[in-house]
Amino acid sequence: MKITAILLAAGQGTRMKSNLPKVLHPIAGRPLIWHALEAIKQSTTEKPLVVVGHGAEEVTKFLGATAQTVLQEPQLGTGHAVMQAESLLKGNTDYVVVCYSDMPLLRGETLVKLVETQKANTGPISMLSVVADDPRGFGRIVRKSDGTVAAIVEEHEASEKQKQIKELNVGGYCFEAEWLWQALHRIPLSKKGEYYLTDTVELAVRDGLSVQAALMDDLEETIGINTRIHLAEVETAMRRRINQGHMLNGVTMMDPASTYIEIGVTIGRDTVIMPNTYIHGETEIGEGNLIGPNTIIRDSKIGNRCKVLASVLEGALLEDDVDMGPFAHLRKGAHLGNHVHMGNFGEVKDSYLSDGVKMGHFSYIGNAQIGTQTNIGAGTITCNYDGEKKHPTVIGADVFIGSDTMLVAPLKIGAGAHTGAGAVVTKDVPEDTLVVGMPARAIKKLERKTKES
Ligand code: UD1
Ligand code: CA
Repeated sequence: MKITAILLAAGQGTRMKSNLPKVLHPIAGRPLIWHALEAIKQSTTEKPLVVVGHGAEEVTKFLGATAQTVLQEPQLGTGHAVMQAESLLKGNTDYVVVCYSDMPLLRGETLVKLVETQKANTGPISMLSVVADDPRGFGRIVRKSDGTVAAIVEEHEASEKQKQIKELNVGGYCFEAEWLWQALHRIPLSKKGEYYLTDTVELAVRDGLSVQAALMDDLEETIGINTRIHLAEVETAMRRRINQGHMLNGVTMMDPASTYIEIGVTIGRDTVIMPNTYIHGETEIGEGNLIGPNTIIRDSKIGNRCKVLASVLEGALLEDDVDMGPFAHLRKGAHLGNHVHMGNFGEVKDSYLSDGVKMGHFSYIGNAQIGTQTNIGAGTITCNYDGEKKHPTVIGADVFIGSDTMLVAPLKIGAGAHTGAGAVVTKDVPEDTLVVGMPARAIKKLERKTKES
């Protein structure tokens, strides 16, 4: 059986007061439309179709190959929106699942139940409903005295008595496709000059066909986004959901309410996340780490047993047992090997610090390769930029860079070399050599101490 989703995303979302199309506003780092596409995956078999209108270009660009799109112009209501899909889908699908794209908490399982309800239905429509004390402007589900569904009445068209109805139309439907295409043309024009998809319910009932409602129990799933207040409400609910998932997988969170983790982040067991920590983008974190408090991590990979205290990581890679912070900043291409220690007020960009490198205080390392066990003294700077180009610095193993050394790139420092405090190094330094001064000159040959490891 072919089941195709139609996601309605043409509306303006006026109440968002935004230049960004409503369905591109993010929740947990992904646009609303992404959440809708994710939710319909489980219950459908074909590529989804998104009805676009306001901000069509931007929405289509975001969708890329994940969905096909059809333009609704002008926007004459939800029934009119679905009508735009007819020429593309007619004859190509048995069921159509219609969803609005502004309910990011709606679960895939709920839509699976909806399709199952329709499979058991002799009539052409099943829809999601929920019972709630606060109607929030939703359409009311009117039932006949025998309990069967009679109609959906929009709030602004409802009588005082109908307004008291507590069963609401959530905005998820499964239609028998062939029946739907002909019914759409029979929808009457509303007082507001729109064609309401919800009027298909009454049409089915008048045809003597059965309409089923799949009653949902989780009210939270039905929160739709119309304003930025709803956006914040849903963000909080989604954050709770994501954090609960990680905790059930073995991650400790001291304060989930102040732990902000985007969708797509993975975290291994026995990692502890301290408060006020943001983990974004494509980030992978291994086991037994201590992250935060006050840490921001984006698009980074962290191994096992690392400590990251009050630091910012962007596009960085940490191997195992790294200890960093407070107030360390890793930028794109920073790669810290096993047991690297990076103390306060350091910045590393596009550089590899091999196993056991120590960089305790106030240093900038950019476009550099640093050998194992090398010590970078306080205030060391790789002067990697000459105003036009970036130049590399290559430092060997077991090097001791004295405090406040300026390493003027391009530069090579041989293994076992030392630089004196305040040295300005402009020429390559051979292995096992001490350089001092400005510019630094070679003054003696050194004996290298072999370290036991
Ligand atoms: C709709 C339902 C209502 C339900 C509520 C749940 C109708 C007539 N009413 O009302 O019963 O309780 O959702 O949230 O369907 N859209 C288009 N093209 C249009 C109009 C709307 O694509 O011409 C899209 C919007 O972008 C939005 C969705 O359809 O994603 C719903 O439209 P909206 O105007 O928010 O409908 P509601 O008045 O909330
Ligand atoms: Ca709405």
